[in-house]
Amino acid sequence: MHFLAIVASERRNGNSDIIGRLSVRYALKSGVDSGEVAHLKNFRLEQCRGCLQCIGENKKCGIDDDLYRLLDIIKEADRLLIIAPVYVLGIPGKLKMLLDRYLAIAGYMKTQVAGPGASIGVAALPDWHQFQIPFTNLMLLAVGRRIAGSTVLYGAGPGEVLLNGSIAGLSVLVDKLVHFKDEPFDSTVAQKCPVDHSSVFERIGGDRFRCPICLTPARLTDRGYYFDASDLNRHRWTGKSLQEHFENWVLQTRPRFKSMLKDIVRKKKEMGI
Ligand SMILES: Cc1cc2nc3c(=O)[nH]c(=O)nc-3n(C[C@H](O)[C@H](O)[C@H](O)COP(=O)(O)O)c2cc1C
Repeated sequence: MHFLAIVASERRNGNSDIIGRLSVRYALKSGVDSGEVAHLKNFRLEQCRGCLQCIGENKKCGIDDDLYRLLDIIKEADRLLIIAPVYVLGIPGKLKMLLDRYLAIAGYMKTQVAGPGASIGVAALPDWHQFQIPFTNLMLLAVGRRIAGSTVLYGAGPGEVLLNGSIAGLSVLVDKLVHFKDEPFDSTVAQKCPVDHSSVFERIGGDRFRCPICLTPARLTDRGYYFDASDLNRHRWTGKSLQEHFENWVLQTRPRFKSMLKDIVRKKKEMGI
């Protein structure tokens, strides 16, 4: 079993870097055969250009950067941990740039049966990281991973995280990831979405909410959100839901646009733009 920690901080010897190296040590203790750290900063990743060249059978992204080199490393990992600092309540730009390449990623990873993933957000202080875990976990879902767990560790300056009590959560999370078994979801009451661990919810009426990341509906109760197994097991990032979305929406983008092109040109002329 091979363990991979992806570090999404530019800081050498920063908190994420330290956590990455420690996580490999813990993973080996938990029983993996090998482990490595990959730093996003060592990969040249450009912004998606929205050309949609990557959609369709066996099509690849036309940007000549390190995307596929990174994806090949991810493909080799039976267990994947993403560690990212919190930047302005969310994820750093480089990780978002990778996430934005989702269409190319999905096309390349789809033949793979991926093992589980987990995530760590590194924050300076509580209450300032609400979008970090949901977005980091979107990255895990984008590379086809079921999420074994997520945690936020606290520390501001490089290495400060080692002095914060939250660091005890690292070995626990790594062990959970290593031993994770991919079983169907059961109905449950929880404070966070069981699919992607987001604590951010949209209200859709009365006591009904939904997770904006995976669209799983939830009903607010005195003890937390009630999630039904039938909903949890057909969230929007399952292979089946993604296939439907791809066929019914993504693949239709080009023909739909072509059918509207004349009207768009006419409208632009009318508006003088
Ligand atoms: C541009 C920038 C934005 C940040 N925004 C937040 C934030 O919104 N919430 C927070 O808790 N910490 C924030 N931080 C602090 C970092 O998350 C924190 O210092 C972390 O330990 C950095 O991890 P690293 O050492 O792995 O780079 C920010 C830091 C920077 C440089």
